[in-house]
Amino acid sequence: MSRRVGWALSVTRGLFITGTDTGVGKTIVAAGIAAALRQRGINVGVMKPVATGAVSLAHLPTADDQRSAADKLVSDRLVSEDAVLLINAAGVDDSYELVNPVCLELPLAPSVAARETGRPVDLEVVRSAFATLAVRHEFLVIEGVGGLLVPLDDTVRVADLARMLGLPLLIVAPNRLGAINQVLMTVEMARLYGLDLAGVVLNRTAPVDSSDQSLRTNAEEIVRQSGVPVLGVIPHANGAVADVSNGDRLVELVSQVIDLDQLLQRPVTLQPTPQQLDAWDKQYVWHPFTQMQDWVQQENLIIEEGRGSWLKATDGRWYLDGVSSLWTTVHGHRTPEIDQAVIRQLHRVAHSTLLGLGNVPSIELAKRLIEIAPEGLTKVFFSDSGSTAVEVALKMAYQYWHQVSPPQPQRRTFISFVNAYHGDTIGSVSVGGIGLFHKIFESLLFDVEKAESPYCYRCPLGKTYPSCRIACLDGLETTLQRRGQEIAAVVVEPMVQAASGMLVQPAGWLKRVEQLCRQYDVLFIADEVATGFGRTGTMFACEHEGVSPDLMAVAKSISGGYLPVAATLASDRIYNAFCGEYAALKTFFHGHTYTGNPLACAAAVANLDLYHQSGLVRRVADQSHWLSKQLQRFRTLKHVGDIRQIGFMVGIELVRDQRSREAYLWEERIGIRVCQAARRRDAILRPLGNVIVLMPPLGISQSDLLRLLDVTYESIVEVTAGAVDSYQSRNKS
Ligand SMILES: Cc1ncc(COP(=O)(O)O)c(C=O)c1O
Repeated sequence: MSRRVGWALSVTRGLFITGTDTGVGKTIVAAGIAAALRQRGINVGVMKPVATGAVSLAHLPTADDQRSAADKLVSDRLVSEDAVLLINAAGVDDSYELVNPVCLELPLAPSVAARETGRPVDLEVVRSAFATLAVRHEFLVIEGVGGLLVPLDDTVRVADLARMLGLPLLIVAPNRLGAINQVLMTVEMARLYGLDLAGVVLNRTAPVDSSDQSLRTNAEEIVRQSGVPVLGVIPHANGAVADVSNGDRLVELVSQVIDLDQLLQRPVTLQPTPQQLDAWDKQYVWHPFTQMQDWVQQENLIIEEGRGSWLKATDGRWYLDGVSSLWTTVHGHRTPEIDQAVIRQLHRVAHSTLLGLGNVPSIELAKRLIEIAPEGLTKVFFSDSGSTAVEVALKMAYQYWHQVSPPQPQRRTFISFVNAYHGDTIGSVSVGGIGLFHKIFESLLFDVEKAESPYCYRCPLGKTYPSCRIACLDGLETTLQRRGQEIAAVVVEPMVQAASGMLVQPAGWLKRVEQLCRQYDVLFIADEVATGFGRTGTMFACEHEGVSPDLMAVAKSISGGYLPVAATLASDRIYNAFCGEYAALKTFFHGHTYTGNPLACAAAVANLDLYHQSGLVRRVADQSHWLSKQLQRFRTLKHVGDIRQIGFMVGIELVRDQRSREAYLWEERIGIRVCQAARRRDAILRPLGNVIVLMPPLGISQSDLLRLLDVTYESIVEVTAGAVDSYQSRNKS
């Protein structure tokens, strides 16, 4: 998707008039409403944003039309009869190009007419014409093209256009048997697109057929079934209505049959402006991991829409989502199959509890997870975030040792790794190892043994892989020898410690951890919250080393980046220790209100279906070789110290000095500044300290990925050159 300029949020009063189909008389209704409003002294403007079947001036029906259109044309171009009718009805002075900015010759759907003539529908031209007319007029009457789902290009429909222009929708439908179905379908679509429904006008497009009983009942039934008011029923007038030259007749008819007062008195639903949103965000929202004192003084991005690998902000620009909206987006934003799965589920039930009840999508999802999980995992316990999935695993491991036969309640300590990140709840913070986030809570945390982190670039032992023979795990073994009987579980981020800067583990490290767990009969908890669902080039990172955890936490990509759902997968060994007589109180007393939420689970099932259909994990594995070649050029940059990559998880560690590996001071905010530079180039990145993270949606196109790399490269060059200068000059002074 190319960068697009955004849409003015409407502050105008008006109507967007759509048909339930083509040829239902919406031009007549639009022109009639415009003329009637004009007669009431209202400064009404008209617009036909996109028209097809355009003709030359000479082909307009009357000489008056030809003159009036010729008067208003700025350039030499074809015109739409509908647009000319609207202009005449409203008596506006606006140029023809403003009223009808997109005009295509072929009488086909706009997407087809555009493709066949090689002239794509330019929505930016529409936006700017709308913005001009909105300022000039009190009330705008806008006529759509056919029905709501008429395509303007491969992704944009008339309903999108209506939503972007932000005016209430008036539906024109033919008044005959079948009208109820047509109106209800259009109403349903309008609601799916979030359009505001002003009402329905029924138009008798054919002479009265006395056998059609529906004319008597259509209006009432439409109101009953849809809850949308029918604002008028236009009788068939044997051609008089369609007589475009008979403006007075049109006004008379519309004034008689359409309830214009109801239209005019309708409260205008004003959309908040970008400026208001920014102010309210700063006034009311407390952002996570954010120094709010800085935030309220900065210009910030507010996202309002997404498509594929791109996000659109209220500043009107599209930004490449370089971190998958915090490592969640898989196939892309607005993936049709997941959209539809959520909508389908919404039509059934949005939420029902798992406490004492089952629900369909959670059952389907649990089965699907076990089918793809590493061997030995057989049960799924749902929660709603990575932190809670880890928290559940810790509590399960702890309780397990109390209930196993024979019980070993002295096993109450966990082992985790320096630089680990497992979330922000007190339990997951206890097993975390990033001091910056956790230090303040130290006195609240429980006892955890910390083992060395596999941070090869800055090896804590000063060794080099592979000659080190993974000596960093010797400490883990020593702890297990010393305290093995007190340890409940070892908690690991498999293959990569993500949040500490994409610290990729050397081959053999993870397997060795598993071996040690087995040797000392300690539970093995894999935190696949970041790595799960293909991010590393295998469905789960554990697969790289053939590891089978006792407990596994998953979240983030599970729903394709759609809705919060997480799960802790357990083996039979764990599960069985929780089974027993009711009175034995072996139950796992834990459960969140939205556990197994049906909407989120439905999104997750659709997400997993797509992995299967598109061979996504294989594709990521293949593309990651290409990515790794592309990353080589970063090595030539003076301030790039290390590049770590596994699959689509990349960390580029910036250093002040490549040779000595001297780090930038955290106060210099080097990572933040690179991400700010990337934002100026329309890409969203989020750093981890001095490490620039790239974690694009797995379904990203190669060209977008290349663009992300280019932006990152240029941003690093821009900022690190500046950083060296400012540091040197500071030191000199
Ligand atoms: C490995 C790992 N575990 C747990 C979490 C916490 O997940 P959440 O933010 O959904 O609570 C994260 C988040 O980044 C993570 O990377």
